[in-house]
Amino acid sequence: MTHPSPVTAADGLITEITTQAARPLEQAIALPPSAYTDEGFHAVERERVFRSGWLCVAHVSEVPEVGSFLALDLVDEPLVVVRGRDQAIRVLSRVCPHRSMDIMPGDSAFPRPGEARLFSCPYHAWTYELDGSLRGCPHMEQAADFNRADWPMPLVRSDIWNGFVFVNLDGSAAPVSQHYGDLDDLLAPWRIPEMQIAISMDWECDFNWKVMIENWMESYHHIGAHRDTLNRIMPGQNTWIEPEHPYYIHAHLPYTDDLKEQTRATIARGERVPGFMAIPGLSEEQQTEWGLHVGYPFFMFLTMPDRLLWYRLLPLSAGKCRLQTMTLVSRDTMQSPDLPAMLEAETPLLRDFHLEDMMVNTGVQKGLMSRLARGRGRLSHLEEPVWLIQRYLAARLAGRLPEKAARRPYYGPKAAE
Ligand code: FES
Ligand SMILES: [Fe+2]
Repeated sequence: MTHPSPVTAADGLITEITTQAARPLEQAIALPPSAYTDEGFHAVERERVFRSGWLCVAHVSEVPEVGSFLALDLVDEPLVVVRGRDQAIRVLSRVCPHRSMDIMPGDSAFPRPGEARLFSCPYHAWTYELDGSLRGCPHMEQAADFNRADWPMPLVRSDIWNGFVFVNLDGSAAPVSQHYGDLDDLLAPWRIPEMQIAISMDWECDFNWKVMIENWMESYHHIGAHRDTLNRIMPGQNTWIEPEHPYYIHAHLPYTDDLKEQTRATIARGERVPGFMAIPGLSEEQQTEWGLHVGYPFFMFLTMPDRLLWYRLLPLSAGKCRLQTMTLVSRDTMQSPDLPAMLEAETPLLRDFHLEDMMVNTGVQKGLMSRLARGRGRLSHLEEPVWLIQRYLAARLAGRLPEKAARRPYYGPKAAE
């Protein structure tokens, strides 16, 4: 018996995903297991979904000064995000144009911050300016017609939106503001470019990137995985989503009525709500809910009344990714004398609720690897984001841009009549 080639197997899967994504939500089912485990299919995703989209690599506060850099590996590309002498933030490939050495070898398990005046390749000591131009290359005077200006470190297309640095590896995407710009007004009060990372945690993840974003976006699992934590303050059945957008999902996670009332009373008394310093200028709704977002393909962020959570995801293979869970806070919070106490109170809570997600995500991937996994399980209406992710994926796998659906969400305040 011959085995199907990876390309053929991926083709069959793409056809199945396309058919599946065309079902209405009432008929929606989970993806087949191989969509999360097959390396051939993952290679197609890397090409059609990751390389053609905008991938978030940094927050501007991670490269605050001239020469600050962050080295990271993304979709097999060794990259460095760096602030140049002109204050511009660039993303350069770390592949030396001489003989392809990674100019910053070493443990790149997680992004590595640093400071540099120049970049120097450890192989033959060619040196580069912070903008990537070649500055020094010893003993090259006998190489005929060799011109230093022709040998810079490759510049990767990048863009900045709301304080986040994105790369587009194939150079084909429209400006990042055309993808996520509809969120600008909503996000304005958080003043994200001025925020600072107060808490950062690294996670080695034995699961597919879609297991992560599906778990991130659906709140159905509050009833199980977060039964004793999140579900007490924001039960999954109260969550609802905005109308379908081609480039992102925005879900609202309102507090329980009791907690809303309590929060409003605290604010009315002029007292501080527990947590970090409140973000000024929020609407009453924003003061009593979390705003959950995924910018496709995997830019995950969550607005809260006192902070912004951001998950930096680096996919490694079909079954593995790395994740950094970051908490960004306002300058007021960073300068507050109460900051150490706030960090001490908030850090364990963040770790605990993420551990609950790590447990289920790892368990899901283990299940998906089993030969007994059926996959294709029926979805609840509360899993509408899972189905929206399928619709996005199907469009990108077919080489199409996603479209804005001419319909309302299936449930919640903005649902179809
Ligand atoms: S490979 Fe970098 S200097 Fe030779
Ligand atoms: Fe969760």
